[in-house]
Amino acid sequence: MTDEQYLTIALPKGKLFGLSADLLKKIGITAEGLSEKSRKLVITNEDLKIKFIITKTADVPTYVEYGAADIGIIGKDVIEESGKDIYELLDMGFGKCRLMMAVPKDKKRACLADYSHTRVATKFPHTAEKFFVSRGMQMEYIKLNGSIELGPIVGLSESIVDIVETGTTLRENNLEEIVTISEATARLIANRVSYKLKFERINKLVEDLKKEL
Ligand code: PRP
Repeated sequence: MTDEQYLTIALPKGKLFGLSADLLKKIGITAEGLSEKSRKLVITNEDLKIKFIITKTADVPTYVEYGAADIGIIGKDVIEESGKDIYELLDMGFGKCRLMMAVPKDKKRACLADYSHTRVATKFPHTAEKFFVSRGMQMEYIKLNGSIELGPIVGLSESIVDIVETGTTLRENNLEEIVTISEATARLIANRVSYKLKFERINKLVEDLKKEL
């Protein structure tokens, strides 16, 4: 478990980092040197007794589930994929995106079922499988860790299941969305034990954040 004195907050590297750090700063939760460019993994504010830990995006739920962080900010898409046992405290509203399936424009098939038994490249194999199974489709999942859009371009897969925000990556790589799987925003999550032991601190933070949303 985390040190009782401190509130440990897991923030993901990447797109949500800046938005999360800015919002926390607005409610007075910050630390010197907390910046996207820093390579420091633990940043402490001794006055406030707050520790920030900076993790890979997909790992935030893991740190929180095991109590290495009391709370964290992470996308709903990542929470779903992780299957971790954590409390979801607040929908922060930002980081809006959707998980979808896309294919190369020139290789589009007549309907979704026509992709049965083909390969799909994704960072979200569990969520993707749940979706395809619900549609009665069996697929072959190829787990990638980034630049998913490359998969169908080089013949690794027929399609992708990935996140779209602005649509720029799809457009620039001649891919077309064929079905939306889910929508997501950033969430504040908490470790179940921490939420009880540090209830006052965490609850105050939630209430302060609500006023800023
Ligand atoms: C995400 C996602 C898409 C892209 C979508 O990748 O996997 O590739 O953003 O955004 P857009 O619709 O605004 O173009 P990210 O930049 O997080 O990096 P990754 O490819 O390494 O996962």
